[in-house]
Parts: sequence; structure tokens; C-alpha cells
Amino acid sequence: MSGQANLEGQHVLVTGGCSGLGLAMALAFRRAGARVAVFDRTIPEGFAAAHPHLVLIAGDVTDPASVHEGFAKAQAALGRLDAVIANAGVSQNKPTLDLDFEEWRRVMSINLDGAFLTCHEAGRLMAANGGGSIILTASMYGVVAAPERLGYCVSKSGTVMMAKALAIEWAKLGIRVNAIAPGYVRTPFVEELVELGRLDLEKLEKRTPMGRLITPEEVADAACFLISDAARAITGQVIGIDGGWTAYGYL
Ligand SMILES: NC(=O)c1ccc[n+]([C@@H]2O[C@H](COP(=O)([O-])OP(=O)(O)OC[C@H]3O[C@@H](n4cnc5c(N)ncnc54)[C@H](O)[C@@H]3O)[C@@H](O)[C@H]2O)c1
Repeated sequence: MSGQANLEGQHVLVTGGCSGLGLAMALAFRRAGARVAVFDRTIPEGFAAAHPHLVLIAGDVTDPASVHEGFAKAQAALGRLDAVIANAGVSQNKPTLDLDFEEWRRVMSINLDGAFLTCHEAGRLMAANGGGSIILTASMYGVVAAPERLGYCVSKSGTVMMAKALAIEWAKLGIRVNAIAPGYVRTPFVEELVELGRLDLEKLEKRTPMGRLITPEEVADAACFLISDAARAITGQVIGIDGGWTAYGYL
């Protein structure tokens, strides 16, 4: 779909845009004709040289001043912001009885506070500019539960509700807000859990009705559609990109 979506004239900011899904979305937006800025806590060595067409902004989504400054830089570099992807996020994967408060706070801070600060800043700019579109990267675990991921599931279900609540509040401002809910995608986020022995990819593939994991490009395609004019009546929705995982309720 990214090949078909036309994002000419759009100016987009992606948080967590230097890796995994964020980078795949940033590159797909570019291919579709948008100008794109990525905001990330970690800008890998060589990233600027490898992606000269992306505006790079270093910052932390958990820090209100850093987010504010990052948006100002993106606005200055791109001229305006038509779409923002609140995508930065981390996993939390261990038995809840072993989870301490610090780890709980960390995942809430990045996945939920970070999403709030990003949407808040985006909303203010878009309200002043006459509208725009926001996507929150939630997860299928914001919609269905999994064990030993309490902070992750709770934070992602929060981003699902954030999309709905903001969508109905900001519709009159011309701002659309949606969430995407990917299934397992093989990014550094998932590779790390595989290395720690916390995920078995073969089992995950078998559990997925489509029999395979999702690719970053498939998530990016859905994002291209959602920020495009083709999705102009779509707001407050959660779009699952999970190969059928959340629909499955049999054995
Ligand atoms: N990979 C999956 O299977 C999967 C599935 C569903 C949802 N998601 C969600 O997709 C999003 C992206 O995940 P990914 O798989 O691409 O992971 P990733 O680890 O490859 O990328 C995450 C990016 O976010 C950045 N980041 C983390 N904390 C930050 C902070 N405080 N401020 C700014 N940037 C920060 C990281 O530096 C990194 O570049 C996350 O919200 C994740 O929960 C991932």
C-alpha cells in the first residue's frame, strides 16, 4: 500500500524513528513523497550518513522540555507538521511478582507518558495549523492480554484509549487520531527478548493464523494509509496488523 499512498506535501514526525517500526514508517513516508523528521533518544552511529533525507532530532519522549524542543526543531526544519507518529516504546517482560516499581515506572514513563507528551505537543501545533493526523503505536497487547507483560499490556491499552479519547475531543479541530496494534515484528525490540530466551519465534508463528510474523513494512503500509487522504474519515480506531492473532479464540 505504501507504493500507492500519496503523501506528497505532508510533513511528518516519527518518535522512536531510528529503529524498527519507526524507521520503517519514516522510510515508507519518504517513499510516498512526505518530508520526514525522526525524534529518538538514540541516534545510531552512521545513521545520518545512511539517511541523509531524514531530519534527525535527538530527544527523550519522557522529558516535556525535550519533546517541546524536538517539535520546535521539526517545525523549523519542515515548515509545518501534518502527521505525527507517537511510536517510541519499550518492552516489559518478566513475571509480575518479580517486577519492581522502578521497572513498572520505566515502561509507564516511556510508553504512556511519552505518548501523552508527544500527542499533546502534536495537538497544540495541529490545532494552530488547522488540523492533522496522529498515530499511536499501541500493540495487540493493548487489546488482548498476555502473561508476564503487565506494564507493557497496561501501557499499550492506555495508548489505545488515548487514541479514542483524543479522537473524539479533537475531531472538531480537524485532527484525526488512530492507534495501530501490531503483532510480533522482528525488530531489535523482539530480537533482544529472543536473545534473553523470553520469546520463541517458532511458537509465535504457529500461534498466528497467518503462520508468520509481521514485517516492519506491513506496519508501515498501514501507517501510510492512515495518514493519507484515503483515511480522511477514519478516526478513533485501533487497526490491528497482527496476522489474525487477536481474532483467534480456538484451541
Ligand atoms: N516489534 C514488535 O513486535 C512490536 C509489536 C507491537 C508494538 N510494538 C511497538 O512498536 C514501537 C516500536 O518498537 P520497535 O519494535 O520498533 O522497537 P525498537 O527497539 O526497534 O525501536 C524503538 C525506538 O524507540 C526509541 N526510544 C526508546 N525510548 C525512547 C525515549 N524515551 N525517547 C525517545 N526515543 C525512545 C529507541 O531508541 C528506538 O529507536 C514500540 O512502541 C513497541 O511497543 C512493537
